[in-house]
Amino acid sequence: MKTVFISGGAGFIGSALIRMLIAESDWRIVNIDKLTYAGNLESLAAVANNPRHVFRHVDIGDRAALDALFAEFKPEGVIHLAAESHVDRSIHGPGDFIQTNIGGTFSLLEATRGYWLSLDDTRKAAFRFHHVSTDEVYGSLGDTGQFVETTAYAPNSPYSASKAASDHLVRAWHHTYGLPVVTTNCSNNYGPCQFPEKLIPLMIHNAVSGKPLPIYGKGDNVRDWLYVDDHASALRLVFEKGVVGEVYNIGGHNEKTNLDVVDTLCALLDELKPGSVPYANLKTYVADRPGHDKRYAIDAGKIGRELGWRPLETFETGMRKTVQWYLDNSEWVAHVVSGEYRNWLDKNYGART
Ligand code: NAD
Ligand code: TYD
Repeated sequence: MKTVFISGGAGFIGSALIRMLIAESDWRIVNIDKLTYAGNLESLAAVANNPRHVFRHVDIGDRAALDALFAEFKPEGVIHLAAESHVDRSIHGPGDFIQTNIGGTFSLLEATRGYWLSLDDTRKAAFRFHHVSTDEVYGSLGDTGQFVETTAYAPNSPYSASKAASDHLVRAWHHTYGLPVVTTNCSNNYGPCQFPEKLIPLMIHNAVSGKPLPIYGKGDNVRDWLYVDDHASALRLVFEKGVVGEVYNIGGHNEKTNLDVVDTLCALLDELKPGSVPYANLKTYVADRPGHDKRYAIDAGKIGRELGWRPLETFETGMRKTVQWYLDNSEWVAHVVSGEYRNWLDKNYGART
């Protein structure tokens, strides 16, 4: 059986990728996750009992634990998503970002390299280390232009700086040691199972709870939104077909101001869960985020031309699916809000981890 390690598989994007790979491929997945506040095994309930999904409660900074996993499972590759991922948290407490995104990536790269060196030539050549990163490493755009793979790095937040550092480590492990790597830099994702601290799930949760919808600054910052399953399909394609040493940008061609996003959400909620007053009445302008990047926009031409990737969802279809998912899965959100989701490991996995 072909085996892939997925780090951060209990997070938002990692869980979408695992659900997709279990449903649509024959990969066996070893999901390596520390279960920080953002790790939620409830997002993997659908595949919890599938023998092709093996969960291991491991910190990517724990080199000895990683070495043991490589020796036990002998994977064909690694897809590395584990990270601290929220910009606002990185502003309030950058330490974990440095530790996991830089130190953890270093530890995973070194464990991978040690294992990779032990492989025979055929398996060595077929091996892939896929590093999953963000368009935020390129910094902030003005009113025009888009990020391409050769755009100079100019990270502005502790989060994006730590991701930029990890991208550089991965690049160096390829150029110096020959490790067969691919890197993807993706725009903002949205969809089911996103922790309700990020813009879209936070706004949906606050709206249905009758709480204010906090819009930073004037709400005119622009993000380029991609439905998470479209990101997952791009990740699979790059992992399986990407050219070693290459970087691929991933994005949905959906540039929206934050106000556009919130207005779209409010209109969908008015339709799908009508309240006594329009949800847009809850919009509240609050102090801006320090160092708030103005605009991100991705040119995803390369992955389209070279690997044939296309997103399936438009902003309209993806947002409708997302709002409907949060309305249909209020228990998932309630367990996050109450902290109950943290008990999922003991209740459902027990000795198997
Ligand atoms: P997330 O915060 O939802 O999930 C991160 C996961 O990593 C969690 O399950 C957490 O428990 C795990 N983790 C954190 N530290 C760990 C450690 N030291 N060892 C093992 N596991 C650890 O993040 P996400 O939104 O799913 O993002 C996944 C990846 O994609 C990240 O690398 C992020 O930088 C990148 N990315 C995210 C977006 C986005 O819009 N969310 C866009 C582009 C790229
Ligand atoms: P976020 O989801 O945190 O993603 P990122 O900072 O990685 O782009 O935020 C998306 C945009 O929404 C960003 O411009 C900040 C803004 N925002 C708000 O206006 N209010 C909020 O409560 C949050 C969480 C974000």
